[in-house]
Amino acid sequence: MHELPPKLDALDLADPRTFRAHDQYAIWRRLRAEAPVFWNAPRGDRPGFWALTKYDDIMAVYKDDDHFTSERGNVLTTLLAGGDSAAGRMLAVTDGKRHRDLRNVFLKAFSPRALSYVAERVRENARSRVRAGVELGACDFARDVAEKIPINTISDLLGVPEGDEHRDHLLDLTKTALSSDEADADDEDAAEASLMARNEILMYFDDLVVEHRRTPKDDVIGAMVASSIDGVPLSDDDIVFNCYSLIIGGDETSRLTMIGTVPAMVDHPDQWAAYKNGTVETKTAVEEILRWVSPAMHFGRRATKDVTVRGTKIAAGDIVTLWNSSANRDEDVFDGPERLDLARSPNRHATFGYGPHFCLGAYLGRTEVGAMLEALREYVGEMHVTAEPELVHSNLLSGISSLQVKLLPA
Ligand code: HEM
Repeated sequence: MHELPPKLDALDLADPRTFRAHDQYAIWRRLRAEAPVFWNAPRGDRPGFWALTKYDDIMAVYKDDDHFTSERGNVLTTLLAGGDSAAGRMLAVTDGKRHRDLRNVFLKAFSPRALSYVAERVRENARSRVRAGVELGACDFARDVAEKIPINTISDLLGVPEGDEHRDHLLDLTKTALSSDEADADDEDAAEASLMARNEILMYFDDLVVEHRRTPKDDVIGAMVASSIDGVPLSDDDIVFNCYSLIIGGDETSRLTMIGTVPAMVDHPDQWAAYKNGTVETKTAVEEILRWVSPAMHFGRRATKDVTVRGTKIAAGDIVTLWNSSANRDEDVFDGPERLDLARSPNRHATFGYGPHFCLGAYLGRTEVGAMLEALREYVGEMHVTAEPELVHSNLLSGISSLQVKLLPA
Protein backbone atom coordinates (compact mmCIF):
# COMPACT_ATOMS: atom_id res chain seq x y z
CA MET A 1 0.00 0.00 0.00
CA HIS A 2 1.29 3.45 -0.91
CA GLU A 3 0.99 6.71 1.01
CA LEU A 4 -1.97 8.82 -0.07
CA PRO A 5 -1.03 11.52 -2.58
CA PRO A 6 -0.37 14.82 -0.75
CA LYS A 7 -2.88 16.51 -3.07
CA LEU A 8 -6.32 14.93 -2.92
CA ASP A 9 -7.00 16.10 -6.49
CA ALA A 10 -4.77 13.25 -7.68
CA LEU A 11 -7.23 10.67 -6.29
CA ASP A 12 -9.50 8.97 -8.80
CA LEU A 13 -12.29 7.05 -7.09
CA ALA A 14 -13.59 5.67 -10.40
CA ASP A 15 -10.34 3.80 -11.00
CA PRO A 16 -10.35 0.36 -9.31
CA ARG A 17 -6.55 0.58 -9.00
CA THR A 18 -7.00 3.34 -6.42
CA PHE A 19 -8.36 0.77 -3.98
CA ARG A 20 -5.44 -1.58 -4.52
CA ALA A 21 -2.79 1.09 -4.25
CA HIS A 22 -4.16 2.64 -1.04
CA ASP A 23 -5.92 1.55 2.12
CA GLN A 24 -9.48 2.67 1.35
CA TYR A 25 -10.10 3.61 4.98
CA ALA A 26 -7.15 6.02 4.90
CA ILE A 27 -8.75 7.63 1.84
CA TRP A 28 -12.11 7.97 3.59
CA ARG A 29 -10.57 9.40 6.79
CA ARG A 30 -8.75 12.03 4.78
CA LEU A 31 -11.75 12.94 2.61
CA ARG A 32 -14.11 13.15 5.62
CA ALA A 33 -11.66 15.49 7.35
CA GLU A 34 -10.51 17.61 4.43
CA ALA A 35 -13.03 17.35 1.58
CA PRO A 36 -16.32 15.73 2.65
CA VAL A 37 -17.92 16.95 -0.58
CA PHE A 38 -15.10 15.97 -2.92
CA TRP A 39 -14.99 16.81 -6.62
CA ASN A 40 -13.42 13.87 -8.47
CA ALA A 41 -12.05 15.71 -11.49
CA PRO A 42 -12.81 14.55 -15.07
CA ARG A 43 -10.22 12.24 -16.66
CA GLY A 44 -9.97 12.31 -20.47
CA ASP A 45 -13.49 11.93 -21.90
CA ARG A 46 -14.87 10.77 -18.62
CA PRO A 47 -16.92 13.38 -16.68
CA GLY A 48 -16.16 14.45 -13.12
CA PHE A 49 -18.40 13.59 -10.20
CA TRP A 50 -19.01 14.44 -6.56
CA ALA A 51 -18.06 11.98 -3.82
CA LEU A 52 -19.79 12.29 -0.44
CA THR A 53 -18.09 10.60 2.50
CA LYS A 54 -19.96 11.86 5.62
CA TYR A 55 -22.72 9.61 6.96
CA ASP A 56 -25.31 12.39 7.39
CA ASP A 57 -24.83 13.75 3.85
CA ILE A 58 -25.04 10.27 2.35
CA MET A 59 -28.23 9.37 4.21
CA ALA A 60 -29.80 12.73 3.25
CA VAL A 61 -29.18 12.06 -0.47
CA TYR A 62 -30.43 8.45 -0.25
CA LYS A 63 -33.65 9.80 1.23
CA ASP A 64 -34.09 12.72 -1.16
CA ASP A 65 -35.71 11.49 -4.35
CA ASP A 66 -36.92 15.01 -5.03
CA HIS A 67 -33.43 16.41 -5.82
CA PHE A 68 -31.78 13.15 -6.88
CA THR A 69 -32.70 10.42 -9.35
CA SER A 70 -31.57 6.82 -9.85
CA GLU A 71 -33.04 6.74 -13.36
CA ARG A 72 -29.80 7.88 -14.97
CA GLY A 73 -27.75 5.18 -13.27
CA ASN A 74 -27.05 4.29 -9.63
CA VAL A 75 -23.42 3.12 -9.80
CA LEU A 76 -20.37 4.82 -11.29
CA THR A 77 -20.22 2.59 -14.36
CA THR A 78 -23.68 3.57 -15.59
CA LEU A 79 -23.63 7.14 -14.24
CA LEU A 80 -20.39 7.89 -16.09
CA ALA A 81 -21.68 6.21 -19.26
CA GLY A 82 -24.63 8.62 -19.22
CA GLY A 83 -27.40 6.26 -18.12
CA ASP A 84 -28.75 2.77 -17.60
CA SER A 85 -30.62 1.01 -20.40
CA ALA A 86 -32.95 -0.59 -17.83
CA ALA A 87 -34.06 2.79 -16.38
CA GLY A 88 -37.73 2.87 -15.55
CA ARG A 89 -37.96 -0.93 -15.71
CA MET A 90 -35.43 -2.36 -13.25
CA LEU A 91 -36.30 -1.60 -9.62
CA ALA A 92 -32.97 -0.03 -8.60
CA VAL A 93 -33.00 2.44 -11.51
CA THR A 94 -36.68 3.37 -11.40
CA ASP A 95 -38.12 6.23 -9.36
CA GLY A 96 -41.44 7.61 -8.21
CA LYS A 97 -44.77 5.85 -8.59
CA ARG A 98 -43.48 3.16 -10.96
CA HIS A 99 -40.76 2.32 -8.42
CA ARG A 100 -43.28 2.02 -5.59
CA ASP A 101 -45.60 -0.15 -7.69
CA LEU A 102 -42.77 -2.40 -8.82
CA ARG A 103 -41.43 -2.68 -5.28
CA ASN A 104 -44.89 -3.76 -4.14
CA VAL A 105 -44.75 -6.64 -6.64
CA PHE A 106 -41.68 -7.92 -4.78
CA LEU A 107 -42.51 -7.06 -1.20
CA LYS A 108 -44.76 -10.05 -0.66
CA ALA A 109 -42.23 -12.45 -2.17
CA PHE A 110 -39.49 -10.92 0.03
CA SER A 111 -41.32 -10.82 3.37
CA PRO A 112 -39.62 -12.79 6.16
CA ARG A 113 -42.62 -15.14 6.21
CA ALA A 114 -42.45 -15.91 2.51
CA LEU A 115 -38.69 -16.38 2.81
CA SER A 116 -38.76 -18.86 5.71
CA TYR A 117 -38.19 -21.83 3.38
CA VAL A 118 -35.32 -20.11 1.57
CA ALA A 119 -33.82 -19.05 4.92
CA GLU A 120 -33.87 -22.62 6.19
CA ARG A 121 -32.07 -23.77 3.02
CA VAL A 122 -29.47 -21.03 3.56
CA ARG A 123 -28.76 -22.32 7.07
CA GLU A 124 -28.49 -25.94 5.91
CA ASN A 125 -26.24 -24.91 3.05
CA ALA A 126 -23.94 -22.85 5.31
CA ARG A 127 -23.67 -25.71 7.82
CA SER A 128 -22.79 -28.30 5.19
CA ARG A 129 -20.28 -26.04 3.41
CA VAL A 130 -18.50 -25.08 6.62
CA ARG A 131 -18.44 -28.72 7.76
CA ALA A 132 -16.90 -29.68 4.42
CA GLY A 133 -14.32 -26.88 4.81
CA VAL A 134 -13.34 -28.22 8.25
CA GLU A 135 -13.03 -31.73 6.82
CA LEU A 136 -10.72 -30.39 4.11
CA GLY A 137 -8.70 -28.62 6.80
CA ALA A 138 -6.86 -26.36 4.39
CA CYS A 139 -9.09 -24.74 1.77
CA ASP A 140 -9.97 -21.60 -0.12
CA PHE A 141 -12.76 -20.19 2.01
CA ALA A 142 -14.03 -18.07 -0.90
CA ARG A 143 -14.25 -20.87 -3.45
CA ASP A 144 -14.77 -23.97 -1.28
CA VAL A 145 -17.09 -22.60 1.40
CA ALA A 146 -18.81 -19.27 0.69
CA GLU A 147 -19.06 -19.23 -3.07
CA LYS A 148 -22.19 -21.22 -3.72
CA ILE A 149 -24.37 -20.12 -0.82
CA PRO A 150 -25.77 -16.82 -2.18
CA ILE A 151 -26.14 -18.00 -5.77
CA ASN A 152 -28.14 -21.00 -4.53
CA THR A 153 -30.27 -18.73 -2.36
CA ILE A 154 -31.21 -16.40 -5.18
CA SER A 155 -31.64 -19.29 -7.56
CA ASP A 156 -34.10 -20.91 -5.10
CA LEU A 157 -35.93 -17.61 -4.88
CA LEU A 158 -36.13 -17.04 -8.62
CA GLY A 159 -36.81 -20.62 -9.59
CA VAL A 160 -33.52 -21.37 -11.38
CA PRO A 161 -33.46 -25.18 -11.79
CA GLU A 162 -31.62 -27.19 -9.11
CA GLY A 163 -28.18 -28.55 -9.85
CA ASP A 164 -24.72 -27.18 -10.52
CA GLU A 165 -25.00 -26.93 -14.29
CA HIS A 166 -27.26 -23.84 -14.34
CA ARG A 167 -26.16 -22.33 -11.05
CA ASP A 168 -22.39 -22.60 -11.65
CA HIS A 169 -22.86 -20.96 -15.02
CA LEU A 170 -24.77 -18.07 -13.44
CA LEU A 171 -22.16 -17.75 -10.72
CA ASP A 172 -19.37 -17.38 -13.28
CA LEU A 173 -21.37 -14.77 -15.12
CA THR A 174 -22.21 -12.69 -12.05
CA LYS A 175 -18.57 -12.73 -10.96
CA THR A 176 -17.54 -11.30 -14.31
CA ALA A 177 -20.42 -8.87 -14.70
CA LEU A 178 -19.55 -6.50 -11.86
CA SER A 179 -15.93 -6.93 -10.92
CA SER A 180 -12.85 -8.75 -11.98
CA ASP A 181 -10.69 -11.06 -9.93
CA GLU A 182 -7.80 -10.24 -12.23
CA ALA A 183 -6.07 -7.08 -11.17
CA ASP A 184 -3.91 -6.98 -14.27
CA ALA A 185 -6.74 -7.51 -16.73
CA ASP A 186 -6.58 -4.84 -19.37
CA ASP A 187 -9.36 -2.31 -18.69
CA GLU A 188 -10.90 -2.69 -22.14
CA ASP A 189 -10.80 -6.49 -21.99
CA ALA A 190 -12.41 -6.43 -18.54
CA ALA A 191 -15.14 -4.06 -19.74
CA GLU A 192 -15.82 -6.25 -22.80
CA ALA A 193 -15.97 -9.41 -20.69
CA SER A 194 -18.33 -7.86 -18.19
CA LEU A 195 -20.63 -6.59 -20.96
CA MET A 196 -20.77 -10.07 -22.47
CA ALA A 197 -21.48 -11.61 -19.09
CA ARG A 198 -24.33 -9.14 -18.48
CA ASN A 199 -25.87 -10.00 -21.86
CA GLU A 200 -25.58 -13.70 -21.19
CA ILE A 201 -27.38 -13.32 -17.87
CA LEU A 202 -30.22 -11.49 -19.63
CA MET A 203 -30.43 -14.22 -22.27
CA TYR A 204 -30.50 -16.93 -19.63
CA PHE A 205 -33.46 -15.29 -17.90
CA ASP A 206 -35.24 -14.68 -21.21
CA ASP A 207 -35.52 -18.45 -21.57
CA LEU A 208 -36.54 -18.96 -17.95
CA VAL A 209 -39.36 -16.40 -18.22
CA VAL A 210 -40.71 -18.16 -21.33
CA GLU A 211 -40.75 -21.39 -19.34
CA HIS A 212 -42.53 -19.72 -16.41
CA ARG A 213 -45.19 -18.33 -18.73
CA ARG A 214 -45.78 -21.84 -20.05
CA THR A 215 -45.92 -23.47 -16.60
CA PRO A 216 -46.82 -21.04 -13.77
CA LYS A 217 -44.65 -21.51 -10.66
CA ASP A 218 -44.72 -20.29 -7.08
CA ASP A 219 -41.46 -18.30 -7.03
CA VAL A 220 -40.36 -14.70 -7.62
CA ILE A 221 -40.43 -15.02 -11.42
CA GLY A 222 -43.87 -16.59 -11.03
CA ALA A 223 -44.95 -13.55 -8.93
CA MET A 224 -43.69 -11.17 -11.63
CA VAL A 225 -45.36 -13.13 -14.42
CA ALA A 226 -48.68 -12.91 -12.54
CA SER A 227 -48.42 -9.14 -11.79
CA SER A 228 -49.78 -6.07 -13.46
CA ILE A 229 -49.16 -2.40 -12.77
CA ASP A 230 -52.12 -0.11 -13.54
CA GLY A 231 -53.73 -3.02 -15.35
CA VAL A 232 -50.73 -3.66 -17.62
CA PRO A 233 -48.91 -6.98 -17.08
CA LEU A 234 -45.12 -6.79 -16.65
CA SER A 235 -43.44 -7.43 -20.00
CA ASP A 236 -40.82 -10.14 -20.50
CA ASP A 237 -38.14 -7.44 -20.69
CA ASP A 238 -39.28 -5.92 -17.39
CA ILE A 239 -39.11 -9.31 -15.71
CA VAL A 240 -35.74 -10.20 -17.20
CA PHE A 241 -34.17 -6.88 -16.10
CA ASN A 242 -35.41 -7.47 -12.57
CA CYS A 243 -34.11 -11.05 -12.48
CA TYR A 244 -30.77 -9.61 -13.52
CA SER A 245 -30.95 -7.04 -10.76
CA LEU A 246 -31.73 -9.66 -8.11
CA ILE A 247 -28.98 -11.99 -9.14
CA ILE A 248 -26.42 -9.22 -9.46
CA GLY A 249 -27.57 -7.42 -6.32
CA GLY A 250 -27.83 -10.49 -4.17
CA ASP A 251 -24.94 -12.71 -5.11
CA GLU A 252 -21.63 -10.97 -4.83
CA THR A 253 -22.48 -8.58 -1.98
CA SER A 254 -23.59 -11.43 0.29
CA ARG A 255 -20.70 -13.64 -0.77
CA LEU A 256 -18.10 -10.95 -0.05
CA THR A 257 -19.63 -10.30 3.36
CA MET A 258 -19.50 -13.99 4.29
CA ILE A 259 -15.89 -14.26 3.14
CA GLY A 260 -14.99 -11.06 5.01
CA THR A 261 -16.24 -12.62 8.25
CA VAL A 262 -13.15 -14.84 8.47
CA PRO A 263 -10.38 -12.20 8.42
CA ALA A 264 -12.52 -10.01 10.70
CA MET A 265 -12.54 -12.82 13.29
CA VAL A 266 -8.92 -13.86 12.72
CA ASP A 267 -7.73 -10.26 13.19
CA HIS A 268 -9.84 -9.83 16.34
CA PRO A 269 -9.45 -13.03 18.37
CA ASP A 270 -11.13 -11.45 21.42
CA GLN A 271 -14.28 -10.88 19.35
CA TRP A 272 -14.20 -14.42 17.97
CA ALA A 273 -13.84 -15.75 21.53
CA ALA A 274 -16.74 -13.57 22.75
CA TYR A 275 -18.92 -14.84 19.91
CA LYS A 276 -17.88 -18.46 20.45
CA ASN A 277 -18.59 -18.40 24.18
CA GLY A 278 -22.00 -16.79 23.72
CA THR A 279 -21.20 -13.39 25.26
CA VAL A 280 -22.21 -11.82 21.96
CA GLU A 281 -25.40 -12.62 20.06
CA THR A 282 -25.61 -13.42 16.35
CA LYS A 283 -28.02 -10.52 15.79
CA THR A 284 -25.57 -7.76 16.76
CA ALA A 285 -22.61 -9.65 15.28
CA VAL A 286 -24.34 -9.74 11.86
CA GLU A 287 -24.84 -5.96 11.86
CA GLU A 288 -21.23 -5.32 12.86
CA ILE A 289 -19.87 -7.65 10.17
CA LEU A 290 -22.05 -5.83 7.62
CA ARG A 291 -20.69 -2.47 8.81
CA TRP A 292 -17.12 -3.77 8.91
CA VAL A 293 -17.05 -5.40 5.49
CA SER A 294 -19.23 -2.85 3.60
CA PRO A 295 -19.12 -4.94 0.41
CA ALA A 296 -20.80 -2.32 -1.79
CA MET A 297 -18.48 0.67 -1.49
CA HIS A 298 -20.68 3.19 -3.27
CA PHE A 299 -24.01 3.85 -4.93
CA GLY A 300 -24.88 7.05 -6.74
CA ARG A 301 -27.44 9.42 -8.12
CA ARG A 302 -27.77 12.31 -10.52
CA ALA A 303 -28.98 15.68 -9.20
CA THR A 304 -32.23 16.79 -10.85
CA LYS A 305 -32.14 20.32 -9.39
CA ASP A 306 -29.48 22.61 -7.97
CA VAL A 307 -28.90 21.64 -4.36
CA THR A 308 -26.45 22.51 -1.58
CA VAL A 309 -24.66 19.82 0.41
CA ARG A 310 -22.58 20.91 3.41
CA GLY A 311 -22.26 24.40 1.93
CA THR A 312 -21.16 23.18 -1.51
CA LYS A 313 -23.38 23.83 -4.51
CA ILE A 314 -24.20 20.78 -6.61
CA ALA A 315 -25.70 21.67 -9.98
CA ALA A 316 -28.67 19.99 -11.67
CA GLY A 317 -27.28 17.17 -13.83
CA ASP A 318 -24.19 16.50 -11.67
CA ILE A 319 -23.28 12.95 -10.66
CA VAL A 320 -23.18 12.38 -6.90
CA THR A 321 -21.62 9.23 -5.44
CA LEU A 322 -22.35 8.03 -1.90
CA TRP A 323 -19.54 6.06 -0.25
CA ASN A 324 -21.16 3.65 2.19
CA SER A 325 -17.80 2.29 3.21
CA SER A 326 -16.86 5.76 4.47
CA ALA A 327 -20.25 6.42 6.12
CA ASN A 328 -19.74 3.20 8.08
CA ARG A 329 -16.50 4.51 9.60
CA ASP A 330 -17.70 8.06 10.29
CA GLU A 331 -16.34 9.05 13.70
CA ASP A 332 -19.26 11.50 14.22
CA VAL A 333 -21.71 8.58 14.14
CA PHE A 334 -19.93 5.45 15.37
CA ASP A 335 -18.09 5.25 18.65
CA GLY A 336 -14.59 3.94 17.83
CA PRO A 337 -15.47 3.21 14.20
CA GLU A 338 -12.13 1.51 13.51
CA ARG A 339 -12.86 -1.06 16.24
CA LEU A 340 -14.70 -4.29 15.42
CA ASP A 341 -17.28 -4.60 18.21
CA LEU A 342 -19.65 -7.50 17.62
CA ALA A 343 -21.89 -6.29 20.43
CA ARG A 344 -22.17 -2.76 18.96
CA SER A 345 -25.62 -1.29 19.55
CA PRO A 346 -27.08 0.84 18.13
CA ASN A 347 -25.47 0.14 14.76
CA ARG A 348 -27.21 2.18 12.09
CA HIS A 349 -24.78 1.29 9.31
CA ALA A 350 -25.27 2.39 5.71
CA THR A 351 -24.48 -1.01 4.18
CA PHE A 352 -27.97 -1.54 2.75
CA GLY A 353 -28.49 2.11 1.75
CA TYR A 354 -31.50 4.06 3.00
CA GLY A 355 -34.77 5.61 1.88
CA PRO A 356 -36.92 4.49 -1.05
CA HIS A 357 -34.26 2.21 -2.58
CA PHE A 358 -33.26 0.56 0.74
CA CYS A 359 -32.01 -2.92 -0.13
CA LEU A 360 -34.87 -5.24 -0.97
CA GLY A 361 -32.76 -8.24 0.00
CA ALA A 362 -31.62 -6.92 3.40
CA TYR A 363 -33.44 -9.65 5.33
CA LEU A 364 -31.92 -12.30 3.10
CA GLY A 365 -28.45 -10.73 3.28
CA ARG A 366 -28.68 -10.69 7.08
CA THR A 367 -29.89 -14.29 7.10
CA GLU A 368 -26.92 -15.37 4.98
CA VAL A 369 -24.35 -13.63 7.17
CA GLY A 370 -26.03 -14.98 10.32
CA ALA A 371 -26.06 -18.51 8.91
CA MET A 372 -22.34 -18.28 8.15
CA LEU A 373 -21.53 -16.94 11.63
CA GLU A 374 -23.55 -19.68 13.34
CA ALA A 375 -22.01 -22.42 11.20
CA LEU A 376 -18.51 -21.15 12.01
CA ARG A 377 -19.36 -21.05 15.71
CA GLU A 378 -20.73 -24.59 15.62
CA TYR A 379 -18.00 -26.33 13.63
CA VAL A 380 -14.81 -24.26 13.79
CA GLY A 381 -12.45 -23.92 16.74
CA GLU A 382 -9.53 -22.02 15.29
CA MET A 383 -9.16 -20.27 11.92
CA HIS A 384 -5.86 -19.32 10.32
CA VAL A 385 -5.33 -17.32 7.14
CA THR A 386 -2.41 -19.01 5.41
CA ALA A 387 -1.70 -16.73 2.42
CA GLU A 388 -2.18 -13.13 1.40
CA PRO A 389 -5.89 -12.80 0.38
CA GLU A 390 -6.66 -11.97 -3.26
CA LEU A 391 -8.90 -8.93 -3.61
CA VAL A 392 -11.65 -8.19 -6.14
CA HIS A 393 -10.80 -5.52 -8.67
CA SER A 394 -13.61 -2.98 -8.67
CA ASN A 395 -14.63 0.57 -7.81
CA LEU A 396 -18.00 -0.71 -6.58
CA LEU A 397 -17.35 -3.89 -4.62
CA SER A 398 -14.80 -4.40 -1.93
CA GLY A 399 -13.67 -7.76 -0.65
CA ILE A 400 -11.78 -10.97 -1.10
CA SER A 401 -11.97 -13.32 -4.09
CA SER A 402 -9.62 -15.97 -2.75
CA LEU A 403 -8.82 -16.70 0.90
CA GLN A 404 -6.55 -19.60 1.83
CA VAL A 405 -7.38 -20.76 5.34
CA LYS A 406 -6.89 -23.60 7.75
CA LEU A 407 -10.04 -24.43 9.70
CA LEU A 408 -9.57 -26.48 12.86
CA PRO A 409 -12.62 -28.30 14.25
CA ALA A 410 -14.44 -27.00 17.32
C1 HEM B 1 -30.62 -2.29 -3.22
C2 HEM B 1 -26.65 -3.50 -0.68
C3 HEM B 1 -28.11 -8.16 -0.63
C4 HEM B 1 -31.40 -7.04 -3.97
C5 HEM B 1 -29.47 -2.21 -2.46
C6 HEM B 1 -28.83 -0.98 -2.06
C7 HEM B 1 -27.72 -1.33 -1.36
C8 HEM B 1 -27.65 -2.77 -1.30
C9 HEM B 1 -26.72 -0.37 -0.72
C10 HEM B 1 -29.33 0.44 -2.38
C11 HEM B 1 -28.97 0.85 -3.81
C12 HEM B 1 -29.35 2.27 -4.14
O1 HEM B 1 -29.80 3.01 -3.25
O2 HEM B 1 -29.17 2.68 -5.31
C13 HEM B 1 -26.71 -4.88 -0.46
C14 HEM B 1 -25.77 -5.61 0.35
C15 HEM B 1 -26.18 -6.92 0.39
C16 HEM B 1 -27.38 -7.01 -0.42
C17 HEM B 1 -24.56 -5.00 1.04
C18 HEM B 1 -25.59 -8.12 1.09
C19 HEM B 1 -24.87 -8.08 2.16
C20 HEM B 1 -29.15 -8.26 -1.51
C21 HEM B 1 -29.87 -9.48 -1.81
C22 HEM B 1 -30.77 -9.17 -2.79
C23 HEM B 1 -30.65 -7.75 -3.05
C24 HEM B 1 -29.59 -10.84 -1.16
C25 HEM B 1 -31.78 -10.02 -3.50
C26 HEM B 1 -32.04 -11.24 -3.28
C27 HEM B 1 -31.47 -5.66 -4.03
C28 HEM B 1 -32.41 -4.93 -4.89
C29 HEM B 1 -32.20 -3.56 -4.66
C30 HEM B 1 -31.13 -3.48 -3.69
C31 HEM B 1 -33.42 -5.54 -5.85
C32 HEM B 1 -32.94 -2.38 -5.30
C33 HEM B 1 -34.04 -1.92 -4.36
C34 HEM B 1 -34.78 -0.70 -4.87
O3 HEM B 1 -34.29 0.01 -5.73
O4 HEM B 1 -35.91 -0.46 -4.38
N1 HEM B 1 -28.74 -3.29 -1.98
N2 HEM B 1 -27.65 -5.75 -0.93
N3 HEM B 1 -29.67 -7.24 -2.25
N4 HEM B 1 -30.73 -4.75 -3.32
FE1 HEM B 1 -29.26 -5.25 -2.04
